[in-house]
Amino acid sequence: MAVATDVVGEGIDRVDGRAKVTGGARYAAEFNPEGLVHAVAFVSTVAKGRVVSIDDAEARRVPGLVAILTHENMPKVAKKPDMHDKKGKPGQTMVPIQGAEVWYAGQYLGLAVAETLSAAEEAAGKVRVQYAEEKPQMWDGEAGGKKPEKMGRTDPPDSSRGDADGAFAGAEVTVEQSYRMAQENHNPMEMSAAVAAWQGDQLTLYSATQWIYGCRHAVAAELGIPEEKVRVICPFVGGAFGCKGSVWPHEYLTALAAKAVGRPVRWMLTRPQMFTGCGMRPAMLQQVKLGATAGGKLTAIVHENYNPTSLEDSWPEPSVEPARMLYSCENVRTQTRIVPSTIITPCQMRAPGHAPGTTVLEVAMDELAYALKMDPIELRLKNYAERDEHEKKAFSSKSLKECYRQAAERFGWAKRTMEPMSMRDGNELVGWGMATAVYPTNRESASARVRMLSDGTALVTTASQDLGTGTYTIMTQIAAETLRLPLEKVKFELGNSAFPKSPVSGGSQTAASTGAAVKLACMKAREQMDQGVKSVDVTHDVEVPDDEKWSTYAFGAQFAEVRVDPDLRTVRVSRVTSAFAAGRILNAKTAHSQVMGGIVMGIGMALLEETRFDPRRAKITNDNLADYLVPVNKDIPEIDCFFVKEEDPRVNEMGCKGIGEIGVTGIAAAVNNAVFHATGKRVREFPMTVEKLM
Ligand code: MOS
Repeated sequence: MAVATDVVGEGIDRVDGRAKVTGGARYAAEFNPEGLVHAVAFVSTVAKGRVVSIDDAEARRVPGLVAILTHENMPKVAKKPDMHDKKGKPGQTMVPIQGAEVWYAGQYLGLAVAETLSAAEEAAGKVRVQYAEEKPQMWDGEAGGKKPEKMGRTDPPDSSRGDADGAFAGAEVTVEQSYRMAQENHNPMEMSAAVAAWQGDQLTLYSATQWIYGCRHAVAAELGIPEEKVRVICPFVGGAFGCKGSVWPHEYLTALAAKAVGRPVRWMLTRPQMFTGCGMRPAMLQQVKLGATAGGKLTAIVHENYNPTSLEDSWPEPSVEPARMLYSCENVRTQTRIVPSTIITPCQMRAPGHAPGTTVLEVAMDELAYALKMDPIELRLKNYAERDEHEKKAFSSKSLKECYRQAAERFGWAKRTMEPMSMRDGNELVGWGMATAVYPTNRESASARVRMLSDGTALVTTASQDLGTGTYTIMTQIAAETLRLPLEKVKFELGNSAFPKSPVSGGSQTAASTGAAVKLACMKAREQMDQGVKSVDVTHDVEVPDDEKWSTYAFGAQFAEVRVDPDLRTVRVSRVTSAFAAGRILNAKTAHSQVMGGIVMGIGMALLEETRFDPRRAKITNDNLADYLVPVNKDIPEIDCFFVKEEDPRVNEMGCKGIGEIGVTGIAAAVNNAVFHATGKRVREFPMTVEKLM
């Protein structure tokens, strides 16, 4: 038998690639239980107030209508969602279609349920709602607000070491600036969707989720039934970026609607509902103060973040986290404040905190480099953190210097002239900028099961998720290598709550968490095979200790070239070169796609992505993909991204660091820094649309 020994690392094609391109991959909304009916939500057109009356007379006349469900006849949830529930995090505590109160524009007010999708759409469009409208509260974009109780995965909202304000006041060279960022919304190709089918008191829920077990836990809690009564199924996710990592009202309301009409119900959010139904990255004001010696040694870092949150829930965007550890500096103070507003509750969006935080910190570092007349890489090397000064721990590994060196060399950085507007090409202004990328390596407990089947294949199962990232593929590689079987003899399955527990596919942690469980389960299975055990069936749990000894991060260096039309001020990113150090790479091809996708998203953050509001009515005005711009092929140049060699036996059994999010960190800063280099104009508002460059 051919034996797979070096399968991990190789850039093999996705094992699910064929299913995906032939339509064989089934997404949540594509499951069709017998008797399925379709639900379409109608939503509030006001941002605050109460529903006075709902007139559904016309809607009821639509042929094929099954029911109009409103707060007057919808079954009730068992309890208010608990945002601090670690076993399955609800995205918001407000539950729509339960009462007359309106908290935000776009809030679901009811469902039209019909035999066909088009009938449900037609009926939803014919429901007339009257409101008692109140004045919404929109954030004014200024500093203020209250201190949140908690922030991010582990960190406190505020931090301080040394005397940052004192050191800043006495610094020889300083930068003090405010930066603004627009709200961004997750726009994965697959809109969030749920299909709910009851068999007696047993619920099967097909839901587009990043977290099978979390979804099961939170949905069971909302329905007031034991978890064992809920099965969640999700073999494929069509992208998520964080919005499917929390459990949102449509997931348990679909189950309640199915109960109400006595038939299986499908509810897929519309694209506009994706802007109000499953979180977002909030708008932000970030204020940064940097102090340095004339020689470029940082003496003070102050980073403050302000963002709006919903009236009921607290979501502080953890943007200040990178400032605590990215550079060596004795005096660092960070602060996070939130401002309650009549908007939806924000949530994690690809590299929460780290994407917006590195954007601002790395622009400020570029501003400091210019103030010092120092090369930006030299400034970063001068302040290189040899250890994590925030956690007071050594890094498990850190190859950032190699990233700077290799990316700079491939980009041709040595040919850069520092003066802004000094690198024209014909009529075009050319600019080169760089920035540091960083993202923590997270991990959670996971388990996996391995069975040897009579036909000689191994069946490996765990309730993980594949968001399009390559989970199926890398887990198959890990299993094949560990079991010493050819790839085609390994069948890996995920996306079913009947399988052993896996954590949320968020925080770039699936490879390290679930990968370790698959590897250790397969090691045990291989041992049994070698001992001649007949029916090998191993389930193995990997527990992650609470107190990690090392500070674990992936790092990178991002370089961008922009070309700016001197008259029209249009910006085109013409080149990107990026190096990342992320430990062992499990699949060269899918890993490359992950960081490249992050870079594309970061270019969107720099130049395009922006959720716009009518501030008088607190209503989104561009909730569609024609007006909410994401990069398309024409916006994206050839991206030269690669991994530097890094071995890290300390980080985890796999020696791998997460790569799903790091690509979107630093890149928007590299583009901003390049725009400054090209034009001499520093834009401190994202996205950098053309009018800001005038
Ligand atoms: Mo990611 S925002 O942790 O899904």
